[in-house]
Amino acid sequence: MRRVIFNQKGGVGKSSITCNLAAISAKNGHKTLVVDLDPQGNSTHYLLGKEAKPSNTIADYFSQTLSFNLTPKKPLEFVTATPFNNLSVISSDPELDAIESKLESRHKVYKLRDLLNKLKGDFDHIFIDTAPALNFYTMSALISADSVLIPFDCDAFSRQSLYNILHVIAETREDHNENLEIEGIIANQFQSRAKLPKRIIEELKAENHPVLPIYLNASIKMKESHETCNPLIHLAPTHPLTERFVALYDYLYESSQAAETKSTSSSV
Ligand SMILES: Nc1ncnc2c1ncn2[C@@H]1O[C@H](COP(=O)(O)OP(=O)(O)OP(=O)(O)O)[C@@H](O)[C@H]1O
Ligand SMILES: [Mg+2]
Repeated sequence: MRRVIFNQKGGVGKSSITCNLAAISAKNGHKTLVVDLDPQGNSTHYLLGKEAKPSNTIADYFSQTLSFNLTPKKPLEFVTATPFNNLSVISSDPELDAIESKLESRHKVYKLRDLLNKLKGDFDHIFIDTAPALNFYTMSALISADSVLIPFDCDAFSRQSLYNILHVIAETREDHNENLEIEGIIANQFQSRAKLPKRIIEELKAENHPVLPIYLNASIKMKESHETCNPLIHLAPTHPLTERFVALYDYLYESSQAAETKSTSSSV
């Protein structure tokens, strides 16, 4: 199962959600990979530590696709183990910005999918974090993924960008990846006592947008978790926000298992 966490709007929780769902997946015993496609490298630093200088990053992989090499690096060489059991990362690199236009002009947008296809047997779950942009890397991610999770921070500007996102996903499905599904919209930093977020979510549901039933509340624990480079499931396993993340993970896992069973039985 490959999921991309996507929203062109900045600061809505993409990296936080990517890393925390991935950490829960790994803790549950699934071999899990995070792919960090954002040159800011927030997921890379969250999982590997602020001082980490990983070699063989995703930028190295993309650069390799631009030149002929008699002994290219193998897919697993781009994967770095994290301090957490079962959890690995393909690290980001600021170099991504420098090579983007070259990759685009040389039509390398399917190369991430090639890489992840080759890693299929090595990982049960892959989570792809994207930058707050619709760029070459985000498109590569949408082309590579089975499903999209859309973090949503419950404000009016987010709502505007949501319609655009849904359009981009529909277009990607039409042109490049017919299997791409919207797994759902994740309400993040949800304040249950404030009226506006509640109203916005109710309106989205009324418009039949797939808002997931488990909302993530705002908590300072998230910042502590970033600061200590320790995902919530390890830092504070019984904290209410961690419990929400676990419930969200379980919901997504069970829904994807049910969908798989249905498609297997209908193809028999
Ligand atoms: N549920 C939450 N409670 C409290 N703070 C949160 C929560 N989710 C995210 N944050 C905070 O919001 C900020 C943005 O989160 P994050 O970096 O995950 O967003 P992003 O969408 O990946 O941002 P960017 O678009 O820059 O990549 C961070 O400071 C993070 O700690
Ligand atoms: Mg981010």
